[in-house]
Amino acid sequence: MRLSRFVPILLLLLLPFCKANGILPTENNSSSQDNLALSILLAGFDLQEEAKRKIGSLPLASPRSESDSKEKIALGEKIFKDNSLSLNSVQSCSTCHLLTGRNVGTDGQATSLGTFGQAGKRNTPTIFNVGFLETIFWDGRKSNLEDQALLPFVDSSEMALGSTSDLLTRLNAKSEYSTLFAKAFPESPSIQLSSVKTSISAFERSLISRSRFDDFVDGNPYAISLEEKEGLRLFLNLNCVDCHNSSMLGGSKFVKLDTKYTYNPNDLGRFEVTGIEADRFVFRTPSLRNVALTQPYFHDGSVRTLDEAVRRMNEYNSPRMITEREVTLLVAFLKSLSDRSKANF
Ligand code: HEC
Ligand code: HEC
Repeated sequence: MRLSRFVPILLLLLLPFCKANGILPTENNSSSQDNLALSILLAGFDLQEEAKRKIGSLPLASPRSESDSKEKIALGEKIFKDNSLSLNSVQSCSTCHLLTGRNVGTDGQATSLGTFGQAGKRNTPTIFNVGFLETIFWDGRKSNLEDQALLPFVDSSEMALGSTSDLLTRLNAKSEYSTLFAKAFPESPSIQLSSVKTSISAFERSLISRSRFDDFVDGNPYAISLEEKEGLRLFLNLNCVDCHNSSMLGGSKFVKLDTKYTYNPNDLGRFEVTGIEADRFVFRTPSLRNVALTQPYFHDGSVRTLDEAVRRMNEYNSPRMITEREVTLLVAFLKSLSDRSKANF
């Protein structure tokens, strides 16, 4: 048990001493004074327990990462950043999923730009923590990273290669890859598509963020500020966790938000995958991890700032309207979900 856990107990033990010495009043209403002192002391700890139970901290390793050797991860990273693997030899995965500086794998565009600058129809999601997702893409059309990894190479609005054999030809054309594949996959050393999938996924699974919120949930009551705690309290009270659930704060539940805003008629969301009428304009609830670093927001990138995104969410689905002060608090809390190594905007 961490030292911080003893703080309330210690303070409780000190209570009679404080009273005896006039530090806390003993006369009238002493029991309500006690209650007040107690609830102030315990509030932070209650919140910690509730956040642990309803949200939780992100595990330190992604599921199914046991055999992700450092050689596989390094190969995946190299392929991810290699712009010779696209039709125009300019674009790589990291053109849209930027990882430099404060970026967590997004591109700052409303919707992504393809090989020839043409706009795609959806906002690029972060690729941090994707190893924890069980539904991939805004419409959940894939359920694991391996099944996703080759698609962008041959997608005409992404890297636009003619076929996956074109990808193999390009990998074979660079002499360094034969050694790297052999090192990463000693049991099947030749350059092959299954190894491309495995190594890219291994690299993605290694991108795990660690935030001050995780430190708070894991026992450090001082890891987030009072304002951020108030925001967290609101986040829990306003039932944001109904959809933004689990330690990912989202990423699993499919929802159509009742909205006065118009949907792009060319993007039918989950309906495109299931063909079920009720899935029209249904999208996956995004994970809120690193959300302060991933503007613009929503599947179509139609919302530019985090304040606006929070205001809109509350319009869509809320027990009550929230005040501007509460928007500020919620945004403060959301900022505590950013990876510690990345500065918030
Ligand atoms: C042209 C920009 C672009 C390029 C290049 C690109 N992506 Fe993406 N990526 C996107 C967009 C946009 C989406 C969301 C698409 C959707 O949901 O339909 C996405 C989604 C993803 C997801 C799913 C994330 C989630 O939250 O479900 C992963 C993983 C991913 N890309 C990895 C890659 C890899 C690996 C490459 C290179 C092989 C790559 N991307 C190349 C724009 C791009
Ligand atoms: C009914 C389920 C539901 C509830 C409740 C909910 N959200 Fe959302 N949230 C979503 C969905 C779905 C999206 C994506 C909508 C889209 O792209 O069209 C979203 C998007 C967001 C975004 C933008 C994230 C991004 O990466 O684009 C933020 C921020 C957000 N929600 C915060 C909140 C807050 C704060 C609350 C509580 C006040 C809340 N949400 C309550 C389902 C929900």
